[in-house]
Amino acid sequence: MTQIKKICCIGAGYVGGPTMAVIAQKNPQIQVTVVDINEERIAAWNNADLSKLPIYEPGLDTVVAEARGRNLFFDTNVDKAIDEADMIFISVNTPTKTYGKGKGMAADLKYIELCARQIARVAKTDKIVVEKSTLPVRTAQAIKRILDQTGNGVSYQILSNPEFLAEGTAIQDLMNPDRVLIGGEESDTGREAIEALASVYGAWVPQERILRTNVWSSELSKLTANAFLAQRVSSINAISELCEASGADVNEVAKAIGMDSRIGSKFLKASVGFGGSCFQKDIFNLVYIAKTYGLDEVADYWEQVIIMNDFQKRRFAERIVTTLFNTVNDKKIAFLGWAFKKDTNDTRESAAIYVANDLMEEEAQIHVFDPKVTEQQMLTDLDYLNTRSSEANRKHLTVHQDPYTALENAHGIAVLTEWDEFKTYDWQRIYNKMQKPAFVFDGRNILDRKQLEQIGFEVYSIGAAN
Ligand code: NAD
Ligand code: UGA
Repeated sequence: MTQIKKICCIGAGYVGGPTMAVIAQKNPQIQVTVVDINEERIAAWNNADLSKLPIYEPGLDTVVAEARGRNLFFDTNVDKAIDEADMIFISVNTPTKTYGKGKGMAADLKYIELCARQIARVAKTDKIVVEKSTLPVRTAQAIKRILDQTGNGVSYQILSNPEFLAEGTAIQDLMNPDRVLIGGEESDTGREAIEALASVYGAWVPQERILRTNVWSSELSKLTANAFLAQRVSSINAISELCEASGADVNEVAKAIGMDSRIGSKFLKASVGFGGSCFQKDIFNLVYIAKTYGLDEVADYWEQVIIMNDFQKRRFAERIVTTLFNTVNDKKIAFLGWAFKKDTNDTRESAAIYVANDLMEEEAQIHVFDPKVTEQQMLTDLDYLNTRSSEANRKHLTVHQDPYTALENAHGIAVLTEWDEFKTYDWQRIYNKMQKPAFVFDGRNILDRKQLEQIGFEVYSIGAAN
């Protein structure tokens, strides 16, 4: 069996960084080099101060501390790492296209293609190329064509090995995955490549959890998994509005249906809407692929998950405006949280961005506290929407380092991220310093509603009779 001695990973992001750190920690005999064109990011991965790693993930610092400098390296020299490696992971970003054909729907594969071309140009020895990025089904075919056209005698095996980690629990998910999926060519050399990768994971993942499939099943399983997860959130969010109208309570409904083992209890938390870099992008990708095959009903079915999610975010913002006597003009609305979920500094597609944008359209003053997100990031997120000028965004957004100053004098508080610390704040103190009536809009249903009401707050919870 092929023994992997050197691994290169192109892309030192939320997936490449933690995944390679764990692979290196568990395989001290393999040299793992993570490369990126982003010099600042690589410098941050090499920072001696582990609290300054470019991404925040609980437990990541310990893993990096153990492996970095031993057999885990972060570098900007992409060519050298490709040249030396037996196995190359491609873990670059695959965002939704913002131009041309498929704009707003299809995955932009330009970074993937650039990687393939770079590998083709540099490689002098046989390589196993692993798709770690989430890709449209049949992308491996395109990568193979690009690699094979060099005609320099190098032979390649392409594997699909999608990543299922969730942010905030990345290390836990990597250490103890439900499954590792490896798709490869159905030939002797294909199977050999699959086993080479399986042995890397085999250092800590039980063999029965390492699933081998053909390449297309593997690629499509990743998009399907994300679509199913997102669909559960949209489904419970759809029911949350029905609960508000009918007097049912969405937490009770979720519990009641979740106890049915066929449904299961996970991913049934009603919220202000799902965010994150992947759910929306991957569903659009799925919708686009379905349309490309002429499968309009399939496309429409999945697109509805996004339509529902957009509605949920909009509905939350509208609820704030109507509750605050139909105007938030010049009113201080305090946001607790900006990240798309707790325990991460990632804000991509966070519901907070869209709710803030809607409220700014109503001339509200948004004051934010998030334990991990920087002011610069929040402003970048708003500017990216292109709704108004950067100056106008700056005029409407104030970022605080202390939650109590963020909440002082607010007309309303909106909980946008489920950070645990929000639950333990001194809510009496907050109430005393707020405008009255003091409104709380709990977009994550994490606060103790009864306790808040006893203090005097007027509370809106998602999916409760309000
Ligand atoms: P990211 O944007 O955090 O990181 C991607 C990195 O690739 C960037 O640092 C970028 O500079 C680098 N890069 C791009 N082109 C390059 C090139 N030609 N050479 C060298 N470096 C290059 O993205 P991410 O969140 O890590 O996601 C990567 C992929 O993994 C995506 O396809 C995503 O869908 C998928 N994925 C993400 C998650 C997640 O939780 N974020 C989970 C599972 C799968
Ligand atoms: C998700 C998947 O869970 C991962 O398996 C996958 O690898 C990853 O996408 C990816 O491909 O990028 P992630 O986006 O990091 O992971 O986080 P999730 O925990 O899935 O949460 C996504 C969003 O849904 C968050 O905004 C979260 O708050 C929201 N959510 C989740 C709910 O509103 N309710 C729930 O019950 C669960």
